Amino acid sequence: MIFSGTLNSEGHLEFGGADVTLLAESFGTPLYVLDEEAIRRNCRSYVQTFQKQYPNSETVYAGKAFLSKAICRILEQEGLGLDVVSGGELYTALQAGFPASRVVFHGNNKSADELSLALENRVGRIVVDNFYELSLLGSLASRKGVQPVIHLRLTPGVKPSTHTYVQTGQVDSKFGFGVADPHLIPSIRGILAEGRLNLVGVHCHIGSQIFQQESYNVTIRIMMEFLKKLHDQGIILAELNLGGGLGIAYTSDESPPAIAEHVSLLVQGVRREAERLRIPLPRLLDEPGRSIVGPSGIALYRVGGSKEISGKRKYIFVDGSMADNPRVALYGARYEAVLANRAQDPPEETVTVAGKCCESGDILIWDASLPVARPGDLLAVFCTGAYHYAMASNYNRLPRPAVVLVNKGQPELIIRRETYEDLVRNDLIPERLNHGSLPPEGAFPLFLPLDGGG
Ligand code: LLP
Repeated sequence: MIFSGTLNSEGHLEFGGADVTLLAESFGTPLYVLDEEAIRRNCRSYVQTFQKQYPNSETVYAGKAFLSKAICRILEQEGLGLDVVSGGELYTALQAGFPASRVVFHGNNKSADELSLALENRVGRIVVDNFYELSLLGSLASRKGVQPVIHLRLTPGVKPSTHTYVQTGQVDSKFGFGVADPHLIPSIRGILAEGRLNLVGVHCHIGSQIFQQESYNVTIRIMMEFLKKLHDQGIILAELNLGGGLGIAYTSDESPPAIAEHVSLLVQGVRREAERLRIPLPRLLDEPGRSIVGPSGIALYRVGGSKEISGKRKYIFVDGSMADNPRVALYGARYEAVLANRAQDPPEETVTVAGKCCESGDILIWDASLPVARPGDLLAVFCTGAYHYAMASNYNRLPRPAVVLVNKGQPELIIRRETYEDLVRNDLIPERLNHGSLPPEGAFPLFLPLDGGG
């Protein structure tokens, strides 16, 4: 069993030093809880391992995993950069006062407005994804009289073993320039000759939730060979961004490498290739998301009813759903959970934890081993810090949950729970709809007064 946290004397789960039953009482459910110390520890694992083994490097947190203004502060304090993929993520970073110079801007279809926002705020690097963007950015930059620092995103043609939807390094991908595209090197020459954009490096990201480190070795070899090819033509690009992707254990049968082990492997690979190819060591960038926040978070849900289909399956229902965790429906993700208010009780049965959305696919855990759950019990699902809140929607007009940051037992709200009012905030009723015809009398049943009432 993946068990993040500890058990207190009352048999309650403590996470980040806080009794989670009290968190649920104070902040309501569904609730996302992040352990600040765990996030900082993971940030430091990346930064310090790089610092020791390859000082000419930067760890850039991938904001898509989870982004809020408070997280930006933590990242800044820990010395990380920030990868953003939309105007919205960039705006969040800017609003949090995150230094724009440490921002890396990604995306396969950045709009002119998004690129302009990046240019106006002088973001550190813009990772250009395709030829269209190259020319769009070139003309925007000239118009604004600035020369942005850019990387080119390349697809190395590597397909790591992970869910197809999160493989991104293969040739048939919407992302990046194919490393073998014959137009690529002429285009690089063009960029350098033109001088509108300051091209300093290349980027790749082969995918996410990757365990097999061999895929990184192959990627490093291909990327370094590309740098060598440029080098032999007199083109020196000083930076190499290897993206993110390190997997985490969602269930006890998974065992990914530790952060330090993963970083060491990247560093060794780059050193080995630089030596073999006789090219200078590049400045190295890495973009982890999931491995920093994923294991640092849990989700709390209140148990409601249940349904047993004799001899087939027992469902227990919770107040969350695919609206706050679409990963099960999207990727067949698996999780482990405990009843947090009696975390010492041994599992008694295997149940399917279902959410409250109107879809049969709205399942949070297909096969959870739990004590017999009663209405009012508190379910804690582990490893939910990454790609949960960030992917949450208002499907079925469910308000998105709150997010609480716990620091040595002290909880603080970092994202408020949405209210019903928030849900209708952007709704408009065109004036003409205010004068609709009334339905014929008797078309809808009416509440009738109870006997003796009315
Ligand atoms: N850099 C780039 C360019 C990326 O596209 C990503 C993730 C990362 C870095 C960070 O990767 P990480 O270290 O978090 O694996 N929604 C999916 C994951 C999508 C990942 C998208 N890109 C999920 O829930 O599994």
